[in-house]
Amino acid sequence: MTSHRTLVVVAHPDLAASRITAALADAVTDLDGVTVRELASAYPDRRVDAAREQELLREHDTIVLQFPWHWYSMPGVLKEWMDQVLRYGFAYGAGGDALHGKRLQLVISTGGPESSYTPTGHNRFTMAELLRPLDATAHLCGMDMAEPLILHSAPRATPEELAAHAARYRELLSAVPAAAGR
Ligand SMILES: Cc1cc2nc3c(=O)[nH]c(=O)nc-3n(C[C@H](O)[C@H](O)[C@H](O)COP(=O)(O)O)c2cc1C
Repeated sequence: MTSHRTLVVVAHPDLAASRITAALADAVTDLDGVTVRELASAYPDRRVDAAREQELLREHDTIVLQFPWHWYSMPGVLKEWMDQVLRYGFAYGAGGDALHGKRLQLVISTGGPESSYTPTGHNRFTMAELLRPLDATAHLCGMDMAEPLILHSAPRATPEELAAHAARYRELLSAVPAAAGR
């Protein structure tokens, strides 16, 4: 039994049209201590209830940002959430220590294969390089960023590959990270 709590923020502009993000969210929704928060349906007009989201963040130890890779970045719905929720005095700056010591876990699916995310590959940069803004955000907010869980070539994943990846995701969230929690 664990008191460790995990908030999964699912950010897809249209979950009904999603194969991967929807399947991965479904795979973890029944886990003990896990809260799944789906942004696009919670905020169809993109007006985020910052106080509610901040309360949810305070209540959890690990924060998962789960999203499809869109234009080498996060979907707009997640950027909107970040802009409105991670405010001065909450997430950073004077008194902004609400996220200190929490763990940030990114869960991402990409269209491109892993080999395309290399200096000589089609996409020119590694995922680690492209994820630097989120790495910097975690650092500014005093969070520990875990190794991202990435499913490459997502649209071409077979049902078996998707199921295996979903099982890895469940395992990741089931294991309580020793460094996290307060
Ligand atoms: C607007 C948009 C932008 C995308 N940009 C990228 C990209 O920059 N790099 C990439 O590898 N895949 C990109 N893709 C492919 C998606 O990452 C992929 O289809 C998605 O992870 C599949 O998940 P889903 O079934 O939940 O939508 C993009 C897809 C869309 C719709």
